[in-house]
Amino acid sequence: MTNVKLSRPILLLVAGLLVLQIAVAQKSTPARAQAGRGVEHAIDSIIAGLTLQEKIGQLVQYTGGWSTGPTGEQTINQEQRAIIRAGGAGSLLNVTGAAETRALQRIAVEESRSRIPLIFGLDVIHGFKTTFPIPLAEAASWDPAAVELSARIGATEAASAGVHWTFAPMVDIARDPRWGRIAEGSGEDTYLGSVMGAARVRGFQGTRLDDPTSLVACVKHYAAYGAAEGGRDYNTVDMSEQTLRDVYLPPFKAALDAGAGTFMASFNEINGVASSGSRFLMTTVLRDEWKFDGFVVSDWGSIGELIPHGFAADPGQAAERAINAGLDMDMEARAFRDSLASLVKQKRVTVATIDEAVRRILRIKFRIGLFADPYRGTSVEREKNTLRHPSHIAAARNVARRSIVLLKNEHNLLPLTPGTGAIAVIGPLAQNKRDPVGTWAGPTDTNHVVTALEGIQEAAAGAMIMYTRGCGIDGNDTTGFAAAVNVARKADVVVMVMGESNDMSGEACCRSFIGLPGNQLDLIKAVQAVGKPIVLVLMNGRSLAISWEAANLPAIVESWHLGHETGHAIADVLFGAYAPTGRLPVTFPRVTGQVPLYYNHKNTGRPFNDTVHYTTRYLDVPSTPLYPFGFGLTYTTFAYSGLTIENAKLRTTDSLRVRVMVKNTGSRAGDEVVQMYVRDDVGTLTRPVRELKAFQRVHLAPGASANVTLAIPVSDLAYTGLDMKRTVEPGSFTVFVGANAAADLAAHCEVVAR
Ligand code: GLC
Repeated sequence: MTNVKLSRPILLLVAGLLVLQIAVAQKSTPARAQAGRGVEHAIDSIIAGLTLQEKIGQLVQYTGGWSTGPTGEQTINQEQRAIIRAGGAGSLLNVTGAAETRALQRIAVEESRSRIPLIFGLDVIHGFKTTFPIPLAEAASWDPAAVELSARIGATEAASAGVHWTFAPMVDIARDPRWGRIAEGSGEDTYLGSVMGAARVRGFQGTRLDDPTSLVACVKHYAAYGAAEGGRDYNTVDMSEQTLRDVYLPPFKAALDAGAGTFMASFNEINGVASSGSRFLMTTVLRDEWKFDGFVVSDWGSIGELIPHGFAADPGQAAERAINAGLDMDMEARAFRDSLASLVKQKRVTVATIDEAVRRILRIKFRIGLFADPYRGTSVEREKNTLRHPSHIAAARNVARRSIVLLKNEHNLLPLTPGTGAIAVIGPLAQNKRDPVGTWAGPTDTNHVVTALEGIQEAAAGAMIMYTRGCGIDGNDTTGFAAAVNVARKADVVVMVMGESNDMSGEACCRSFIGLPGNQLDLIKAVQAVGKPIVLVLMNGRSLAISWEAANLPAIVESWHLGHETGHAIADVLFGAYAPTGRLPVTFPRVTGQVPLYYNHKNTGRPFNDTVHYTTRYLDVPSTPLYPFGFGLTYTTFAYSGLTIENAKLRTTDSLRVRVMVKNTGSRAGDEVVQMYVRDDVGTLTRPVRELKAFQRVHLAPGASANVTLAIPVSDLAYTGLDMKRTVEPGSFTVFVGANAAADLAAHCEVVAR
């Protein structure tokens, strides 16, 4: 093949043409289509000029951090720079910094023959240099706008540091809190997970993918990674296609509908087919059914893991099965690099397949503007002025306090009154700057974390604050107990900040027991024996089994891992500057042995009834959760009445419109998150006892009421039947409206045949 040298002038001409056409594209749809055709023609020209080796290079992603530079930044060593110069890499991950990324991009666009820009990826999961709450905490805000803002700021900061692409949102539905990666997603519910996944895509990608503050999103982990048996990471997933399509895939589709440019294949298998080699997932569903035209990257080494899966005999077959299934880029398995050329020679992989993968990757590189400006306007100056901007820190505080869930508040112990009395602050997470950033905090600086103690000291305005650690997060050291009892004795109220370290959740961080770790409960019991009122503040990356605590302590605040503004957010809630508005995105079980325990379960033929022996139940624990999905208190109370369905006989083309009166029956203003659940009472296939279909926040002054209307298209009541088609079956439906998944205010309606 003649090596057509794609000289810089030609590429610039192509890019210039495209910049012009994309600029035009903003004017009208036909022009946008023309710009799309322009991109495809430009890609044709580029591919035509590439050698097979250069094409394969585009499908290979290498990690940075092979060595650290003079100032400690992760850098690329000479060997890897040579690979870039030879056109052997299409992407790098874990390389950040305007200076470092510009230097490497210069090699790619000025010293390589193909001059194709690199795309730089990073896990920007919940912030970059300003760390926001972990995604599970953000989901607890039930506030898509807050979640979108968090992603927008993470993108703005990371893009200023030369990042183009984030490996987020993680949209894995998780029904088993033993699974450590439950911390990274939006919990157990398909609808909430879909709303939050779409919000994160909007935040990361902004209004234009080629805006220099935008990151192209990567929806992961495709698919059903959160359904690992036993809640053990990477473990086997086995489920019906109906469950896959109705519970686990919709958040991926919602993220795609929000414009996500890339997907990441998951480590796990589903029903014997490893996802990173699944043609069903990456071609049949993603491209044929959903018309996705971006690219799919593997998870770290997941192509090579087809071998231990027993899904490929060797790296060659792993690469063959992955690329023929529709996987486009190899993250750190080196399988594409080492095997694709010989697979082409053996006619096991066609050049057309490789060209299609290159096309998809170049298409995204065009869309994010890399051919217009490979440096996307980064500079050390812009980076310096962007990272940890005061507005970002203020936003982080606001999102953090909206993520806090009040689980218990007996006798209105909270809010505390600033400036009065003596407060004992006790616990291994109270004066801790490392763990509140949570899992996947990226290249953050924990020195900036505002601890719970610091936040309380700032807000307490003159009250006497005493502090002692009391015990470790893990282990059974009791040497700190005496000091804890001692400060409790001197206090009017005790705040105990307990929970998990940031590496007790996240990847490969699963727990077989989800109570408080170590001997933390022993410390709580020792302090509780002193007799002073205790506020338990939890920091954790999953739902916890805290039955004793719930039965014996007057106040419990779920604060998850809130990021840099932890202390300010917790103090805002404890002292009433902000009335808590969070609601649980996951069910809290009474004991670990109950999991998986989730609200949208099936009814069974013997629905659990703790007073009837022969029903689906345990002998030793009630079958209900400790705290249900959607649960959360605030500093006032609400009452619901007058639930009505506007049109009780519905056609599939109608909207289900529900109205309810909500009244603030307390003495303080507050937010209520009105939740609507629907049950399909009878189906050709059995249906969940209820499913969340809509929610709306309402803010009410004391004594005020509001008529809240929730409306959904009847088509949202469809499910995947035996024929694998999504249909709404005629019949009766029950609508529940209330404050959480245990709401019992109900009304009935009927869907009639067309
Ligand atoms: C990891 C994770 C994935 C992450 C990737 C790159 O193993 O599974 O979520 O995006 O590697 O860091």
